[in-house]
Amino acid sequence: MEKEKIEQIRAEFPILTEQIYKKQLIYFDNGATTQKPRCVVEKINSAYYHLNANIHRGVHYLSQKATEAHEAARQSVAEFLKADKREEIIFTRGTTEAINLVAFSFGEAFAKPGAEVIVSVMEHHSNIVPWQMLCQRKGMTLRVIPMNEKGELQMDKFAELLNEKTCIVSVSHVSNVLGTVNPVKEIIKLAHDQNIPVLVDGAQAVPHIPVDVVELDADFYVFSGHKIYGPTGIGVLYGKEKWLNAIPPYQGGGEMIATVTFEKTTYNELPFKFEAGTPDYIGSTALAEALRYVQEIGLNEIAAYEHELTEYATQRLLEIENMRIIGTASNKSSVVSFLVGNIHPYDIGMLLDKMGIAVRTGHHCAQPLIDSLHIPGTVRASFAFYNTKEEIDTFIEALKKVVGMLS
Ligand code: ALA
Repeated sequence: MEKEKIEQIRAEFPILTEQIYKKQLIYFDNGATTQKPRCVVEKINSAYYHLNANIHRGVHYLSQKATEAHEAARQSVAEFLKADKREEIIFTRGTTEAINLVAFSFGEAFAKPGAEVIVSVMEHHSNIVPWQMLCQRKGMTLRVIPMNEKGELQMDKFAELLNEKTCIVSVSHVSNVLGTVNPVKEIIKLAHDQNIPVLVDGAQAVPHIPVDVVELDADFYVFSGHKIYGPTGIGVLYGKEKWLNAIPPYQGGGEMIATVTFEKTTYNELPFKFEAGTPDYIGSTALAEALRYVQEIGLNEIAAYEHELTEYATQRLLEIENMRIIGTASNKSSVVSFLVGNIHPYDIGMLLDKMGIAVRTGHHCAQPLIDSLHIPGTVRASFAFYNTKEEIDTFIEALKKVVGMLS
């Protein structure tokens, strides 16, 4: 991406001009959450100022307008993921709730004692704990795909784990710690050869790489709005229609019903069956604006530029003595995790913060992965398209100072 374009983009993110401890903010914690462009913040404001009424309920003008905006947002998400039908898009609070929904509802319909769920060693807790809870509830076993020393999943081991007891596979598209882009298409193909459905956790993928759920043939695909420049509290579950029809609702109440008597309730059709209570129609509307914004910049252009930033940061980090990059997969997205000698990641993060640089430190909600590497955690820099090589240069100089102070 050209310098001029990046400057134009940066001007759309007011927070990037903030000073932290009298230092210019450098925000490299985009894996945790992304900053919001003006158009998204303005969409939230204008929705509250001009379009606020509860949806799917009112005959009045405002309610109908708000309903139209929420349903148009569903259509935008369907187009963004290249889903066949808008009914296959369920709004949730985020990735975590979407995975919990599937673990509960799919589990109610299809899980049996003795069955197995396969996840990978590099999963976020959100893609481990809901499955563990299902396993506990139903007397099932969690199986784990291992990885090699570069942080790539061992596909031969995955093939060995698949068997007639496997009821679902759930894997991340991109690791939030290692940045590895997993071969989800191949994973889905291998699982489908044995009629096993696959959920893909796309939280760290959709902000960085174009996704086509039909081309992947994913049974479920989930992501969070706040990691793709949208608001917090809104997320997406894509599910193939056949699965969403075959599994029971997750929560009861509100628009998810067709009829209710004290004897029996019948459920609404898709997608409403899974949206109990008042939906976050302001959040969905703002998420659609965020998706419009990234598509206007261009997903391929974003992917190419962020790849350049990641490569550049990796190269420059390697100038530092005793640098250890955690995660060296051949296909990586915009995350670089590292350790320097025996310095604790937390100390590095604290000192960088005092220099205005925001990185994440610790286990990144992936404790089993960190334990498997026998490390205390990592320092993680995660990039967005508003970041620059100049920011990486400043970060490297600051890091050199920090390492000097702590060595
Ligand atoms: N899952 C988010 C991260 O990796 C919070 O930082």
